[in-house]
Amino acid sequence: MEWGLENRISKIIRPDTGRTVMLAVDHGYFLGPTSGLEEPGETVKPLVEYADTLMLTRGVLRSCVDPQVDVPIVLRVSGGTSILGELSDEGLTVSIQDALRMNVAGVALSVFVGSDLEKQTLLGLADLVDMANDFAVPVLAVTAVGKDMVRDSRYLGLACRISAELGAHIVKTYYCDDFETVVKNCPVPIVIAGGKKIPESDAIKLAADAVKRGAAGVDMGRNIFQSEYPVPMIRTIRAVVHENLTHKKGLNMFNDLVADENKAKKKSKPKAKAKAKKS
Ligand code: R5P
Repeated sequence: MEWGLENRISKIIRPDTGRTVMLAVDHGYFLGPTSGLEEPGETVKPLVEYADTLMLTRGVLRSCVDPQVDVPIVLRVSGGTSILGELSDEGLTVSIQDALRMNVAGVALSVFVGSDLEKQTLLGLADLVDMANDFAVPVLAVTAVGKDMVRDSRYLGLACRISAELGAHIVKTYYCDDFETVVKNCPVPIVIAGGKKIPESDAIKLAADAVKRGAAGVDMGRNIFQSEYPVPMIRTIRAVVHENLTHKKGLNMFNDLVADENKAKKKSKPKAKAKAKKS
């Protein structure tokens, strides 16, 4: 593999574990001010040190993230739709030159296999791979699932395999039963999205099951930043992904971190009151 491409991929997927914790905060590109991402910069600040990669849009990167931050960026470069319209009608939203200006490690685009606009989004992926190839930038294909699609291994396996065949270097999909088959049939690394917010224990189990069955990690958003305890959550997911922590051990870790956080909060409260009294 070309040096530049390999170098960029190694910034996204840790070479020592072959896995990654991508923190996804790109939801606003079609959802607007998503719960937990009202002020994306504030959301990202305490979490970024535990993320291997940050996935977001050009606008949020430029206006909300400190340029000195030490985290590789996977830039979402597809969009142009909103929750009010036809979601699969996406196009390219950022040129590869502008992505490079932002020093990205990779670019991401959604494909909608099985939708009426399947061909448009798949050819969009192929075009992006061509453009990105010129600059040795890896492409992450996001297999978006339309309302009428079933998230089973047959459908997700199809979407992942087609994305890889068209040249995606990494594919993001959803966890499902028989996930091993999806991984086996896809020649490039697969990361899983977290999906809608679920109880922390379930999200930790999802990550543990996914990596056990061959995922190269997670590209997780809502189950981290919508948690009441986002820092304990991302730290736990990190340990699950990179240290193979089981669901049970992960849950213990999460509970310990939550207890520590609550203790620290309690400790800092009386001090604040004392200060207020003095002044
Ligand atoms: C879709 O909105 C984006 O591609 C998200 O980055 C992706 O769905 C992962 O985020 P979550 O874990 O919240 O599903």
